Amino acid sequence: MYNELIDKLEKEHTLSKKEYLTLINNREKCQEYLTQRAFAVRNKVFGNKVYIRGLIEVSNYCKNDCYYCGIRRSNKNIQRYRLSADEILSCCDEGYKLGFRTFVLQGGEDNYYTDDFLYELIKDIKRRYPECAVTLSLGERSYNSYKALKEAGADRYLLRHETANFEHYSRLHPKEMDFFNRLACIENLKALGYQVGVGFMVGSPYQTEEDLADEMLFLMQVKPHMVGIGPFISHKDTPFCDFESGRAELTTFMLSLIRLTLPNVLLPATTALGTIDMDGREKGILAGANVLMPNLSPSFAKKNYLLYDNKICTGDEAAMCIECLKQRIKKTGCEITVSRGDYKNEL
Ligand code: SAM
Ligand code: FES
Repeated sequence: MYNELIDKLEKEHTLSKKEYLTLINNREKCQEYLTQRAFAVRNKVFGNKVYIRGLIEVSNYCKNDCYYCGIRRSNKNIQRYRLSADEILSCCDEGYKLGFRTFVLQGGEDNYYTDDFLYELIKDIKRRYPECAVTLSLGERSYNSYKALKEAGADRYLLRHETANFEHYSRLHPKEMDFFNRLACIENLKALGYQVGVGFMVGSPYQTEEDLADEMLFLMQVKPHMVGIGPFISHKDTPFCDFESGRAELTTFMLSLIRLTLPNVLLPATTALGTIDMDGREKGILAGANVLMPNLSPSFAKKNYLLYDNKICTGDEAAMCIECLKQRIKKTGCEITVSRGDYKNEL
């Protein structure tokens, strides 16, 4: 029965909430088959290629106070930093030499990065590397800000919705954070022509299996170009320090459901997955993921951009990281490719 549901999902790219829930609730019984089908679909759409994105953690200042996040404004136990335009450009230089053709600028919501600052920075990156894609992940900004950054040349934007359930959102965030504004931002980004990534944490506090089924319906409705999911991992200096972290098995199960629902979506095997399970990123690729986001940040940034405890690869050089990933990915039968790896509409 479960395998039939999985076959139906592969064929039709959609299930009802009840059907998704049946699979999620009975995941031990069908994970193996689901993984096989998701890997096959991934290979049919993308061959054995894995895209790499160079992640640059531009700032750990944040005006928000998300209960789960290690760089929330109330955490007084971290050393705050922000990278200058020159520092960001030298990360891009290093990344370019290592074969990266996408740079992801990610950070807390830091007012230091005004539209003017980012406009000039994006223009500079594009001038130096016209063949590279620029992805931003800088949180909620106004329509006009997203518009200006798109005009500067930004190609993609990652803004995880965190949860598709309003009630759940309000348990993960303080009152001043507005679920509907986040959704409006996602709509604005789509309307402006960005390739848009959404996403959520697996196993975040108070999340139910029904919420996970709702996540699938949300993704079908939004049809994002990218979906970033990873396990919630607790951080010792947050209000959620005592909550259990999410599980690798459930994360890879969700990755596979996403691959069958949105066959051509760009789907990272995240660092959080590699943190919760030593072989998590390989397992993610085998479950249908096709993107990796190694860290290009300078070492002082890596050491202080700690969203959760025990984050991996915080001491490694980017060159070492990419070598390590190449070896890991080889074991899955896939290989890392030097290309922008844009979203393609056609299957
Ligand atoms: N400020 C930007 C934003 O809000 O989209 C980007 C940076 S934010 C730190 C990036 C993502 O990290 C969040 O969307 C969240 O899903 C994830 N994250 C934060 N804390 C985490 C935790 N404790 N465990 C796993 N993921 C976490
Ligand atoms: Fe702002 Fe996490 S609270 S990035």
